[in-house]
Amino acid sequence: MHRSHTCGELRLEDAGKTTTLSGWVQRSRDLGGMTFVDLRDRYGLTQVVFNMEENSALCERARKLGREFVVKITGTVKERSSKNPKMPTGDIEVVAGDMEVLNTSKTPPFTIEDETDGGDELRMQYRYLDLRRKPVQNGLVLRHKLAQATRAYLDKSGFLEIETPYLIKSTPEGARDFVVPSRMNPGEFYALPQSPQTFKQLLMVSGYDRYFQIVRCFRDEDLRADRQPEFTQIDCEMAFVEQEDVLQTFEGLTQSLFKEILDADLPNFVRMDYATAMRKYGSDKPDIRFGMEINDISEYAKGKGFKVFDASEKVLAINAEGCAEYSRKQLDALTEWVKRPQIGAKGLVYVKYQAEGILKSSIDKFFEPEQLEEWCKACGAKPGDLLLVLSGESATTSKQIGELRLHMANTLDLRKSGTYAPLWVVDFPLMEWDEETNRYYAMHHPFTSPKPEDIDKLEAATGEVRANAYDLVINGVEIGGGSIRIHDRTLQAKIFELLDFTAEEAQEQFGFLMNAFEFGAPPHGGIAFGFDRLCSLMGGSDSIRDYIAFPKNNSGRDVMIDAPSPIDEAQLSELGMARKKE
Ligand code: AMO
Repeated sequence: MHRSHTCGELRLEDAGKTTTLSGWVQRSRDLGGMTFVDLRDRYGLTQVVFNMEENSALCERARKLGREFVVKITGTVKERSSKNPKMPTGDIEVVAGDMEVLNTSKTPPFTIEDETDGGDELRMQYRYLDLRRKPVQNGLVLRHKLAQATRAYLDKSGFLEIETPYLIKSTPEGARDFVVPSRMNPGEFYALPQSPQTFKQLLMVSGYDRYFQIVRCFRDEDLRADRQPEFTQIDCEMAFVEQEDVLQTFEGLTQSLFKEILDADLPNFVRMDYATAMRKYGSDKPDIRFGMEINDISEYAKGKGFKVFDASEKVLAINAEGCAEYSRKQLDALTEWVKRPQIGAKGLVYVKYQAEGILKSSIDKFFEPEQLEEWCKACGAKPGDLLLVLSGESATTSKQIGELRLHMANTLDLRKSGTYAPLWVVDFPLMEWDEETNRYYAMHHPFTSPKPEDIDKLEAATGEVRANAYDLVINGVEIGGGSIRIHDRTLQAKIFELLDFTAEEAQEQFGFLMNAFEFGAPPHGGIAFGFDRLCSLMGGSDSIRDYIAFPKNNSGRDVMIDAPSPIDEAQLSELGMARKKE
């Protein structure tokens, strides 16, 4: 028998029992007469004592144990004389009577402690060691619980979990595909799914009216803290539903998950249309835990002789409450911040609404105090506040000031962890015009239906057509997105046409779906949650890597297994891809 208890299990009531524990040596302390070893497994830590007087041979062996050795210890549970209230097992220790070294270990390249001395790259290279650390383990435990709770909720709600293939033909979600060459079909490739979108729609045609899958998706896109090349979705689809049914169902799922995992009661979800989100927050995924809404002060700021504003389409301001006392240095730092290439503003104008009602601004030369007062009024500023103003082209400025809003909120600690502000962003535009390629792109994906009341604008005012699409946003993170789909072949063909597909291209790429629509496709819609993002939101870390057992780094590499890597000529030639000899 390797163990009778785990290393997290023994308590005071177990005193006197004989126990066998197996685990890793977290640390050992040799105090001459006694050697203490903290033994660790997935469940916790238990202190083991080796007593020189009682068993000198055993104690000598214990002194030789290195960090991360795997040992089996049999001994007696004893109440500790000096208890450790920080450890669940801190009331007891195990007095060792016997020990077997199950395996030795090289000294690990970083400390396996909650606070480790290992850098990111090193920990990724030895991910199996990093996974021994409690904080990393907690991330995976949270992920597991979330997956189980999701399955239970959706199962109870009548959803069937159905797997869809990984070797498919490209699904157009807007990113690049990862492709897999086919040996049996030389020169041809599978694509790994960016999502199971078309398959779940086909399942609706097949009558499986409530589908879900916790499924891996693959996207070859630039990586960030909240993006991995392979990530997981809670992917769902329902037939015979309208937008309201989908929103209700998944608001229910989200609330239930937060309750079960965090014991948090989420408020009713705010609904906000895309246009409002962009206007008030400069973002389609606003963090509404705090206000600081964007104000359009163009009418007060333009046409007064200040060239920069006069040449701008929009002048937008936010009110940073209580910041009127910002120093020159702080304001310069903010100006530098907005001028960074990631934000791209040309400069920053400020107005300090000082305590006695005196207004001081960076553009005093151009505006009278009464005029600045109008700005303050428009922004709801009061003495003690600071207005921050950006100007330029409408959409760009809106995004820039939206970023500044988040930056100020971070600085002022307004984005409180442990509070959650969920909202549905609805009524997205169906298509976006791209200047570079001179064509429309689907904002969500090409299977999203236009709002029925906008269908007659499809030809004449394509860019104004709103979609039956929705995103779930919590604390400024896009947690999920979905839409009511097109289920009519003619409308689907029309959308492909507007998206610049020729009829042949549409048929070649999506004929299978459009053909299926001719065999009794029911009205349907769905959503996909970013499962890793949901984990990181609930777990409180910014990086989804903390919730993925074996993640990739920012260059898309797994540095532990060293992938991607070249493959040999024989493998290449089997795939019909051998390099031509010079
Ligand atoms: P969408 O592309 O919006 O929709 O993806 C759904 C959710 O998946 C998460 N997500 C990611 N998470 C980690 N790394 C990535 N690279 C990544 N990309 C996306 C986000 C996002 O909200 N088929 C549609 C859904 C539908 O219409 O039902 C889809 O995939 O949280």
